[in-house]
Amino acid sequence: MSEHVSGDAIPLLPGYNEAELDQAFAAVAAEVDASAKALATPDAVEAFRLHWLGRKQGRLKAISDAWLKSAPVEAKKLIGQRFNVLKAAIETRLETAGQASHTHALDSERIDITLPGTERKLGAEHPLIKTQNELLAIFARIGFSVGVGPEVETDYYNFESLNFPPGHPARDTQDTLVIANQERRPLRDRLLMRTHTSPVQIKTMEQQPPPVRIVIPGKVHRNDAADATHSPIFHQLEGLCVDTNITFADLKGTLDYAMKQLFGSSVKTRFFPSFFPFTEPSADVQISCPFCGGKGCRKCKHSGWIELLGCGMVDPAVFGFAQQKQPAYDPKKISGFAFGMGIDRIAMMKYGISDISLMYSGDLRFLEQFA
Ligand code: DAH
Repeated sequence: MSEHVSGDAIPLLPGYNEAELDQAFAAVAAEVDASAKALATPDAVEAFRLHWLGRKQGRLKAISDAWLKSAPVEAKKLIGQRFNVLKAAIETRLETAGQASHTHALDSERIDITLPGTERKLGAEHPLIKTQNELLAIFARIGFSVGVGPEVETDYYNFESLNFPPGHPARDTQDTLVIANQERRPLRDRLLMRTHTSPVQIKTMEQQPPPVRIVIPGKVHRNDAADATHSPIFHQLEGLCVDTNITFADLKGTLDYAMKQLFGSSVKTRFFPSFFPFTEPSADVQISCPFCGGKGCRKCKHSGWIELLGCGMVDPAVFGFAQQKQPAYDPKKISGFAFGMGIDRIAMMKYGISDISLMYSGDLRFLEQFA
């Protein structure tokens, strides 16, 4: 008996007449049928193919070795015919099982498209960005465009051109970080972290002649000890309007409109004399307390008013600095107003945030509340 590993031993042919051959081949065909029952996967189909048709150790080869080679010449043809029929039957099995097993395999890989997808949460706007965008939209409605400038600024743009000469006491209120190793440069060129967004005023005027109507949001830096209402990094919104015949009434009307848009139409504004080197006259602006309607509460320290921003008419000295690049800023022909407000402060009021450090903590429990 020829050696083979797959399957049982090959039975001996009982004889070589047709009936005996038919019987022997029918037994093998039944064996094929039995082994073809579980052909659900491509692996099972391949195992079936190897078992029956494997070139070296396949059962068909073993049967052919056992039955055909030793058969008398006159029986070879009869055996050969039956052998071909058997082989064709096995191949047909393989073909249909192959197709079916592929469909089954796909079945197991099928995706249920009715299942809900992977949910990706939309990011939420940071309360500062939200407030900033709201402010920009309010000013956009009355014709203000948006400008930006660098956070690292020269002494000239942060101070000197805004009428803070070297050694001016107003510089002390805006102590900041300075960039190291610049002692060899003239003071005006030394770099520092800007203390306010006002440098962008003068830079805008250097770049374009009047009229100008612009708001400038941005991050600013000061050597301030951190507490619930102070942070060494915070945000400001600067405003600048320059044209012929701009008056203090325009300034008042603009800021009154903006505060009403921001906090509601019942909010009132009032202006107090103040000082900024780059505006003359200068004013601090208070709004009636939006929490108590001006009656007095803890939020307004029982005064009914909350101080929110600084402003004034652009100082002619500032136009003088702008004129070095743009002669059209002639203080005899044009005038303008400027204002500056803290975006953090406004966001804290709008959203009832009691500690400014939350704005910079990156704490999701805080941020998710604005989603
Ligand atoms: N730059 C000022 C500050 O940081 C804020 C300010 C006040 C800006 C009055 C202005 C202004 O443009 O007119 O304290």
